Amino acid sequence: MNEGPIAVVGTGTMGAGIAQVIAQSGKAVLLYDQSADAVNKALAGTRNRIQRLLERKRITQEQHDSILANLKVVSDLDDLKPATFLIEAIFESYPAKEVLFKQLDKIVSPDAILASNTSTIPITKLAALVSNQGRFVGTHFFNPAPVMKLVEVIRGLNTTQATMDRAIALMKSIDKTPVTVVDAPGFIVNRILAPMLNEACFILQEGIASKEDIDMAMKLGTNHPMGPLELADLVGLDIALHTQEILFEEFGDSKYRPAPLLKKMVAAGLLGRKSGKGFYDYSTGEKK
Ligand code: CAA
Repeated sequence: MNEGPIAVVGTGTMGAGIAQVIAQSGKAVLLYDQSADAVNKALAGTRNRIQRLLERKRITQEQHDSILANLKVVSDLDDLKPATFLIEAIFESYPAKEVLFKQLDKIVSPDAILASNTSTIPITKLAALVSNQGRFVGTHFFNPAPVMKLVEVIRGLNTTQATMDRAIALMKSIDKTPVTVVDAPGFIVNRILAPMLNEACFILQEGIASKEDIDMAMKLGTNHPMGPLELADLVGLDIALHTQEILFEEFGDSKYRPAPLLKKMVAAGLLGRKSGKGFYDYSTGEKK
């Protein structure tokens, strides 16, 4: 089928970043969020990032203008009808995604691909919400989406090869590197990453090393761009904990038990960058 606009539903950090990537690749994006505030915040953030790219001479004025022109906000789900590929990136709530996909199933063309950026809900379970499970796929981007090259393309139990091929082709066309994964808890990256962040919390709570030394050790010892604790602050401690809890629940293996320190910090509202404080304090200038 001819490629139409790509719809992105949900304009939080991930949705806004994904929409930016698609718009930067020259494709038209239809952007929807049920909250007008969220859309305005996302657009303001995108404009700032595109402006910075212009100032650093990474893009020309013409490219700057066409990226912004590629982003079209719609205020009604029905306006997503022309989309040929839809990526859902709303918050991680199965009931919310259930309501959304049941509506989208009736709105978007039967030939359009339905994708979810979920990191914790099984793709097969989400696919079961729509009438044609074969056209449902996972497309898991990483934060910050405009920078991170990887997208995990997840095959649900009933995802067809044609759907996988279209998802892979789209990811390549927006300059991402897709890897394919069978639907399983954590897919590839979070299955490895979440336990690593969790283990760093155990090391800290056991008094084995300071937070700075844990981060420095992994940066200089394994060439990671960020240490695990500062990365947990970037991801969000609530998200890191939720991912770990899903691995623990799904596999029933004690090796995935969440670190008590991580649970305590989330309970205290220390969520990382987004709350101003996590392992590091972003309000006092301890970390930028
Ligand atoms: N949005 C857009 N662009 C961003 C950005 C953001 N939030 N943060 C940084 N950038 C851009 C900068 O503008 C800069 O671009 P230029 O090279 O064009 O100037 C570039 O990224 C590098 O940024 P900085 O020089 O400021 O900083 P850095 O070199 O330390 O890179 C980083 C920052 C890209 C975040 C890097 O530290 C990194 O890769 N960290 C690891 C991130 C990671 O592991 N993410 C995955 C999280 S897990 C996940 O997302 C999955 C899940 O389900 C939870």
